[in-house]
Amino acid sequence: MNPGEFREMGHQVVNLLAEYLDHIEEKRVFPDVEPRTVNALFAEALPQEPSPSERVLGELESKLLPYCTNVGHPGYMGLITPSPNPVGIIADFICSALNQNVGAYSIGPSAVAMERRVVRWLTDLCGYGAKAGGNLTSGGMMANFIGLKVGRDAVTRDIAQHDGINQRWAVYASEERHVSVDKAVDCVGLGRNALRALPTDAKFQVRIDALEEAIARDKKEGIRPMCIVGMFGTTNTGAVDDIRELRRIADREGMWLHADAAYGGGMLISHEWPMRDRGLELADSITIDPHKWFYAPLDAGAVLVKDHDRLTASFGMKPSYLTDELDHSNERYQYYVHGFEQSRRFRSLKVWMSFKRYGARQIGEWIDNNVRQAKHLYSLTENNAEFEPATEPPMSAICIRFKGPKLSEAESKELHAEVAQRVEQSGRFWMSTTDLKGKTWFRINPVNFRTREEHMEQLFALLQQECHEFVSEKGVASRR
Ligand SMILES: Cc1ncc(COP(=O)(O)O)c(C=O)c1O
Repeated sequence: MNPGEFREMGHQVVNLLAEYLDHIEEKRVFPDVEPRTVNALFAEALPQEPSPSERVLGELESKLLPYCTNVGHPGYMGLITPSPNPVGIIADFICSALNQNVGAYSIGPSAVAMERRVVRWLTDLCGYGAKAGGNLTSGGMMANFIGLKVGRDAVTRDIAQHDGINQRWAVYASEERHVSVDKAVDCVGLGRNALRALPTDAKFQVRIDALEEAIARDKKEGIRPMCIVGMFGTTNTGAVDDIRELRRIADREGMWLHADAAYGGGMLISHEWPMRDRGLELADSITIDPHKWFYAPLDAGAVLVKDHDRLTASFGMKPSYLTDELDHSNERYQYYVHGFEQSRRFRSLKVWMSFKRYGARQIGEWIDNNVRQAKHLYSLTENNAEFEPATEPPMSAICIRFKGPKLSEAESKELHAEVAQRVEQSGRFWMSTTDLKGKTWFRINPVNFRTREEHMEQLFALLQQECHEFVSEKGVASRR
């Protein structure tokens, strides 16, 4: 590809994407296509011969774009994937062009400096002090894993990372934790059965009495408490655990406290409901994902550690092919020595550019709008005899359920799954379903700067219509 063609293709792509974004609201949220049809579109052998750029772009226009889930559409209120902010989109383009590898200083001095600054912004937002550090990660899953690994090493005084686990340990988290916590407990060598899933109260916050009981029970059996994972914004309802109480218990038991603010971290820059007084800074490590509620395009998660030295203790291996022998003053920051991932994309660029272009003030306003939208749906639901909300949403994730005529739990499950599918088929909205305390719910979660209050009203009207249709089709109404 010569420079002229690069320019030409680049302009075409920018035009294509600008057009896509200009008209995103007119598109279906989810494509009307069967999986086998999309698979067939890409079923071809490895191309041996080149194709002109126009043909490659043409294929994208016909095969890729029409069958995307348009997460930037205001009706996308599903799994936590934001409408990517346009500056972030441009940043990712630049990022690939420069291909800085922030794993090592020698492959990107300014990119390393930028990531360190972004990490500093995030640690400041969380209320950490100057000793804190962290890494941008592929997402919350990786950040929770790193948090648990650093916690395991700190609590076992680095023995586990050399000799493995030779005792029985337990990790404690709410039943509302994200599944990444279970995977992390497994991956740090404790085994998933070492995770104690604790019941929550009516607001879906972990019950402290249940935590105390679980710890006492484990200690009686010779199992040592290792870590508490506190939720700072659960996936289902945005619940925030009592981090201060968790800290008190963790200190008493010599445990690590990791806080999962992958989603809820956005509330730190909310203007109307700022959650800067919830004790997040008391956690030893924190997961916070710019690719969730700072509206950065995927991927950009982050793990923050209150004491940067713990990162180095957990990951500070220096293979000879990477070591910077001549850096006597230790000024060349090597992420590979202070983190798990080696080759790493220059993720901080989109976060840095987004904060520079919009400022935390504008991003905080988007967050407030999303919270307001969830609260609006809550009040619509509260005032409707056929629906119930799980709880008032503290963030933008809200769970509601249809309780219309008396349905068995199996029927209710079927109704919610079927209606969610019909909503998907409508092409107007996308939301998921979930289970909370043994019941099935619609889970609706705007993390989207294009969503407006009217969309919540339209979605609620559609839900009512589809629930009624389901009930009459299935003849459930006759048993009313
Ligand atoms: C509370 C919470 N933690 C962790 C994760 C995992 O994050 P990721 O999907 O970025 O790996 C999620 C994802 O939604 C989440 O909601």
